[in-house]
Amino acid sequence: MSRDLFEAARDAMSRCHAPYSEFPVGAAIRADDGEIYTGANIEVASYPEGWCAETTAIGHMVMAGAREIREVAVIAEKMAACTPCGGCRQRLAEFGGPDTKIHLCDQNGIVKTVTLGELLPLAFDSDALK
Ligand code: THU
Repeated sequence: MSRDLFEAARDAMSRCHAPYSEFPVGAAIRADDGEIYTGANIEVASYPEGWCAETTAIGHMVMAGAREIREVAVIAEKMAACTPCGGCRQRLAEFGGPDTKIHLCDQNGIVKTVTLGELLPLAFDSDALK
């Protein structure tokens, strides 16, 4: 992974709205159009209504017209190698595949790279709806 994806995730994290958890997270997606789409977690006073950094980034990607995730970087301020939550794994799987790389970062760069298939084995996908 080139460093630009990590830096985009780190920059995005600084734009989080996480006053309740005080757990800032940033995500960056490199899409099939070659562009990077970023997001941060956005929390809401009614706690369950907030959402994750990965979800914000997916929204930006989709609204820009891209539909395929090539690789993802995730960073949390207070935790090295923070992994996407279960719901975000499913959302990432909608636009990625089992081989899609997910780079788990700390403040300095990538700590560990895993695949979406490792994070979400036996995924429920659109084949089930055919
Ligand atoms: N969070 C993310 O944004 N992404 C993750 O991968 C894990 C958790 C957020 C959700 C919430 O705003 C805060 O971290 C604490 O759970």
